[in-house]
Amino acid sequence: MVQHLRSNTTLYNGVQMPWLGIGVFKVEDGDDLVNAVTTAIQHGYRSIDTAAIYQNETSVGQAINACIQNGAVTREELFITSKVWNADLGYESTLAAYEASLNRLGLPYLDLYLIHWPVEGKYKEAWRALETLYKEGKVKAIGVSNFQTHHLQDLMREADIKPMVNQVELHPYLTQQELQQFCGEHNIQLEAWSPLMQGQLLNHPVLQDIAQGHNKSVAQVIIRWDLQRGIVTIPKSTKQHRIIENAAVFDFALTAEEMARIDSLNQNFRVGPDPDNFDF
Ligand SMILES: NC(=O)c1ccc[n+]([C@@H]2O[C@H](COP(=O)([O-])OP(=O)(O)OC[C@H]3O[C@@H](n4cnc5c(N)ncnc54)[C@H](OP(=O)(O)O)[C@@H]3O)[C@@H](O)[C@H]2O)c1
Repeated sequence: MVQHLRSNTTLYNGVQMPWLGIGVFKVEDGDDLVNAVTTAIQHGYRSIDTAAIYQNETSVGQAINACIQNGAVTREELFITSKVWNADLGYESTLAAYEASLNRLGLPYLDLYLIHWPVEGKYKEAWRALETLYKEGKVKAIGVSNFQTHHLQDLMREADIKPMVNQVELHPYLTQQELQQFCGEHNIQLEAWSPLMQGQLLNHPVLQDIAQGHNKSVAQVIIRWDLQRGIVTIPKSTKQHRIIENAAVFDFALTAEEMARIDSLNQNFRVGPDPDNFDF
């Protein structure tokens, strides 16, 4: 069972990845982001999820490096994820994109590098590049994002190394049970993005009812539901009190009945693009 903010899942290659991290989508480079990442690290977060397309790797790296320099944390204790954007999918271009992300972050390596979206006809070449980075020891783990089961099957038919992580949209309206089953069978760690459905589920009566019973917030209940399902998650907040709140999920447990009630909210509803029908 996941016991605290430093609890890790072990990826199939042995790398330790925190169950809970912080995401930074839609936060611009600048003081607010530096402060949010610094606050998260100071309050015990060790995993930070960014991407080249977020155009905020510079501030994320600034905060991380300041925390390392002032002794709050070591690089080895942190777990930093970034993602190669669609325009850079290709063998050489993905290798170059990785170096560019490292430069912006000011880091010597990443813990996890992901293919951001399964662009048809492009992701296999990009995956070869991720395999090269991994084999050369330049990144600790490699994975994908927004891959459906058929994308994973297609990739794994030719891959030398299967993905260690698949990061997908996942929340009570999109519970991804079948994808979780498939990833579990292949030892691919499932990770939830937009776990809070970008803040749009916080008034849901069923979730509020469960939250009241535990004297917790709806956000905390959803995060706890992810963890109890064995899903890594990365809720985003730039507010100090919410960064702290979202990590205070280790002092209560949902019952099997409560877990089932949340599971039953599924509507296969997406706030983000459909991985089988996107045009970017
Ligand atoms: N791989 C992909 O394609 C992909 C796509 C989308 C996102 N992601 C990753 O997943 C991370 C999380 O997803 P997300 O940012 O889309 O959405 P999210 O984490 O589901 O929700 C974030 C929203 O909820 C609010 N919030 C956070 N904690 C709260 C709390 N305790 N109470 C009330 N409101 C709260 C935040 O506002 P405040 O900031 O004002 O607190 C923000 O508006 C992203 O940051 C990114 O790292 C990946």
